[in-house]
Amino acid sequence: MLSTHYWEARKQMKIGILNAGNVGSRLARAWAAAGHDLVIAKDGEDRKIAPLLAELGDRARLGTIREAAEFGEAVLFSVYWPRVDAIVSEVGDALDGKTVIETMNPLGVTAEFQHFHELDFMRDNSTSEVLQQRLPKAQIVKAFNLLGSPLLEAAAWSKSPVQPNVFYVSDDASAGQIARSLIADAGFKPINAGPLKGARQLEQAGVLLHHIAEHEYAGDAEGLVRLALSVIEANPGPILRERIT
Ligand SMILES: NC(=O)c1ccc[n+]([C@@H]2O[C@H](COP(=O)([O-])OP(=O)(O)OC[C@H]3O[C@@H](n4cnc5c(N)ncnc54)[C@H](OP(=O)(O)O)[C@@H]3O)[C@@H](O)[C@H]2O)c1
Repeated sequence: MLSTHYWEARKQMKIGILNAGNVGSRLARAWAAAGHDLVIAKDGEDRKIAPLLAELGDRARLGTIREAAEFGEAVLFSVYWPRVDAIVSEVGDALDGKTVIETMNPLGVTAEFQHFHELDFMRDNSTSEVLQQRLPKAQIVKAFNLLGSPLLEAAAWSKSPVQPNVFYVSDDASAGQIARSLIADAGFKPINAGPLKGARQLEQAGVLLHHIAEHEYAGDAEGLVRLALSVIEANPGPILRERIT
């Protein structure tokens, strides 16, 4: 007989994609391939995701931000940080009681569309905590903020002997379990990094990775792939283990 855990991991879900951008479109593709049903919204011009919708066929249809939020039992909230207020007001109460997986990094943008880290904000806050305050009846999970969007393609890891880790944080155990299943369905290894406040460290780790990409790999994002982006799972052997404990 299948264990409850196995069944939960394979359960087909209705997923709302709040913004099929660089990140959302990759996860939509993976989740559709895993058998989930999607309503996909684009912040901006819908026509840009026509090829994605054509590719996904019956598994996905286009919706507004509000419609995608209403449809999902679980919802991906993957919008550009300066757009949070506008998106939250469009969503209204449609995310109440739902698992909301947010992927944001606190990036500001100049008039020339140059991005910068909101370092003052990051000292004692995180996008996840702000979103939880704005959506107090939703169960927020943070995940996927450390992988550059091309690395969310399953194909990027097809030759890798290990799946990359995706860290997630949440204050809600059942939302954490749903996120865990969906991270696995997207082709990654879910790693529980504790309560939602840990989003601060996940966002700061994003700054660290940008610094490493810039200084060690001369801006080459492929370098981050070689760095493996996350704690490598290795077996240190008995001697090292004794030292650690
Ligand atoms: N991208 C990543 O590698 C990555 C990785 C981890 C986490 N995240 C986070 O996940 C969330 C979603 O990220 P995303 O990259 O998927 O967002 P996105 O929706 O693909 O792009 C962000 C927004 O910027 C607009 N935009 C792009 N280039 C522009 C330009 N030159 N001038 C004006 N507007 C422009 C896009 O509009 P159009 O689409 O209409 O052009 C879109 O509204 C963000 O909070 C991000 O910080 C991103």
